[in-house]
Amino acid sequence: MIKKIIALIFLISSVLIASPIHAEPNGGPLFQANCASCHAGGTNRIMANKTLKKEALAKYDMDSKEAIVKQVTNGKRAMPAFRGRLKSSQIEAVAEYVLSQAEKGW
Ligand code: HEC
Repeated sequence: MIKKIIALIFLISSVLIASPIHAEPNGGPLFQANCASCHAGGTNRIMANKTLKKEALAKYDMDSKEAIVKQVTNGKRAMPAFRGRLKSSQIEAVAEYVLSQAEKGW
């Protein structure tokens, strides 16, 4: 019984450790720390129509890494600029994360 429980704990922890292998290593944590306050789960708390879902990104021409990097760097209306807060490599990571989550349907 104990052995089974230990094996189960190993199994669960290895799954938990292995799972954050997304396209970009830091994109997920960066998103949680900087974007999730307004965009939790790909939504938009301030402008409900401007979500990070695939259809919305396509509709507003935000479905490319370049467009997202530009908006995150410079901000837009109620969305703050992250220039100076995030390095450009981090902005790229978070943009890739947004695109990969949109592809997966969040
Ligand atoms: C203070 C709230 C806030 C934070 C924090 C925030 N955003 Fe936004 N975001 C917005 C708002 C508001 C818009 C709509 C801007 C507009 O078009 O007027 C937006 C729009 C977007 C869009 C375009 C969505 C679309 O459908 O057109 C993307 C992509 C985006 N944000 C990514 C991010 C990322 C990545 C981060 C973190 C680095 C982030 N946002 C942080 C408020 C925020």
